[in-house]
Amino acid sequence: MQPFDDIKARAMRFPEVDLTKGRSIAYSRSVTRRIMELIDGNSQGNVHGGVIMRMVDEAAAIVAIKHSQRPCVTARVERFDFVAPAYIGNVVTVDCALNYVGRTSMEVGVEVTAEDLMTGEVRKIASSYVIYVALNEQGKPTPVPPLEPADEEEAARIERARIRRQHMKRLDEELEKLHP
Ligand SMILES: CC(C)(COP(=O)(O)OP(=O)(O)OC[C@H]1O[C@@H](n2cnc3c(N)ncnc32)[C@H](O)[C@@H]1OP(=O)(O)O)[C@@H](O)C(=O)NCCC(=O)NCCS
Repeated sequence: MQPFDDIKARAMRFPEVDLTKGRSIAYSRSVTRRIMELIDGNSQGNVHGGVIMRMVDEAAAIVAIKHSQRPCVTARVERFDFVAPAYIGNVVTVDCALNYVGRTSMEVGVEVTAEDLMTGEVRKIASSYVIYVALNEQGKPTPVPPLEPADEEEAARIERARIRRQHMKRLDEELEKLHP
């Protein structure tokens, strides 16, 4: 059990976080890339959607953990749109950045592209919004630093996400009334 105890002990040492200091979108932005191999394929010979979804969750979690300096859990995949297939041999790139930060939750915006290394063609294959919640030592939601826009464009991005989350909250409430 020694290695597992060591991993757990390391994972439970949380640094102090100054919640009065905002962090930029650039601070936690993350890009992950991987070449698609046969093991990533589906029965049509394209890349399996679940492979892309796993890459997205892993890459987007890096953003939330880096921003909050806390372990984070996936609370919701708000959207996941596949717009084109990726093929075996393509390099899939997952570009993730914070859209919005609440009190304990963080919405990460994700764009996924596939590159054909022979031709250099890059295609958008998917996009997603994933919401993470930061946890304290007791495994409960814990406050995270605010998100500070670097310019007007980023301020507009954060505001759009805030409005979208309000809409989604209202939709959740409506659906809850239909299916309590
Ligand atoms: C996510 C989780 C920690 C939330 O716990 P909770 O007791 O409902 O927390 P709260 O009601 O205090 O909400 C905490 C924050 O999360 C947000 N949140 C909670 N559930 C959410 C959901 N389904 N969708 C979007 N946001 C959610 C709340 O809006 C709140 O945000 P804010 O603090 O920024 O305002 C809890 O539901 C959980 O542990 N879920 C399982 C997570 C997990 O195992 N993920 C991996 C699955 S493979």
